[in-house]
Amino acid sequence: MSRVENPYRPGFNEIPKELAGRDDVLEDLRDAIEVAALDGRMPRPTLLVGARGVGKTVLLAEAGSIAGSRFGWPRIQIEMRPETAFTPDLIDAVERTCNLLQDARPRKRMRAETVTVRAGLPGVGGEVRFARQADLAGDPTPTLRPALAELAGLLIQRESGAILTVDEAHLAKRAELAALAALLQEGTGDRWPLVVVFAGLLPMRSPDHSVTYFERGSWHELGLLGRQDTLRALRRPAEDAGRPMDDDAAELLADACGGYPYAVQLYGHHAWRASADQDRIEIAAAQAALPRAQRELERGLYAARWTAASPAQKRYLLAVAAVTASGSPATARTVAEELGRQPKQLSTVRDSLLKQGTLTVEGDELRFTIPGMSAYLLAL
Ligand SMILES: Nc1ncnc2c1ncn2[C@@H]1O[C@H](COP(=O)(O)OP(=O)(O)OP(=O)(O)O)[C@@H](O)[C@H]1O
Ligand SMILES: [Mg+2]
Repeated sequence: MSRVENPYRPGFNEIPKELAGRDDVLEDLRDAIEVAALDGRMPRPTLLVGARGVGKTVLLAEAGSIAGSRFGWPRIQIEMRPETAFTPDLIDAVERTCNLLQDARPRKRMRAETVTVRAGLPGVGGEVRFARQADLAGDPTPTLRPALAELAGLLIQRESGAILTVDEAHLAKRAELAALAALLQEGTGDRWPLVVVFAGLLPMRSPDHSVTYFERGSWHELGLLGRQDTLRALRRPAEDAGRPMDDDAAELLADACGGYPYAVQLYGHHAWRASADQDRIEIAAAQAALPRAQRELERGLYAARWTAASPAQKRYLLAVAAVTASGSPATARTVAEELGRQPKQLSTVRDSLLKQGTLTVEGDELRFTIPGMSAYLLAL
């Protein structure tokens, strides 16, 4: 049998063949794009929050591809990094998009200038960057404003639009984010044809990150996939690739991945591999996939988080696992009791684990973001 490409995508930022269970978000994104493209208004921002590996980044990419395929719009993508200002990157990306637009339908002169500057004077880019770094000492917003306004002007002239996607937005410093929000707010008044989508971990929602502009946005909290969506995400890629998955095999894999999108891809990937010489994915292949996928989750996700944790974080994580295993809900209070401390003394370590996305809080109950991590810790 000839080799067929594995149709599962167990990597971060890799668009799955079947983007299951996100229809409402996609609907909302399509709507926002249409508001800008057809009504000539700037829609309110869309904000996607959720734990690690639930599929935020792939939704940003999908939004970009909807805007690109339907309206031919460019996508400006930035990813925030810890302790690093994002505005210089954003300015850079906006300026590059302006150049692209000018190149696409050039007025003759402008094109000549652009080409000369970019190809003939390589040093210029460096100087521009240098100047910007210097700006940073102060407030870089004054440079961002004209860049965004120029972009909006070019887009309006060309009856086009653009989509701006901002990933890992929870890492942004509030003041910098507030400055961007204020500019986007101005743009709303000026009817910029710009669709803005932010994605980040749950702390993005907390008051020390949120800005008024966000509060009026359209929020989506991405969670685990439901049973039917999990089954669809497991079965569709296999079916489309010509090696359908049996019902019992799909049910077994769905039980194991607990609706966690990253695990869906990982379990699917191993079941596909285990059935390499067959024309269906049967229960035996699914059974063979379980320990392999589990090991990979352990080595990758659990071990990486465990090794990166500080001693205080490790104690906290073990306590969460122990409380959960005892059958009572892990809350700030019960975990503190387990450790013989006051909740207040542990609030910093708890917050740091939530911020990193290792733990998630629902109501006041603490959970491990990745299903199975609790069992992994207890077996250490
Ligand atoms: N709706 C979905 N259905 C099936 N698989 C999905 C879905 N969404 C995401 N995935 C898969 O889950 C994995 C993680 O996706 P992605 O990188 O977008 O997550 P993320 O939320 O951005 O994670 P992080 O917070 O670590 O950046 C990828 O392998 C992707 O293919
Ligand atoms: Mg991501």
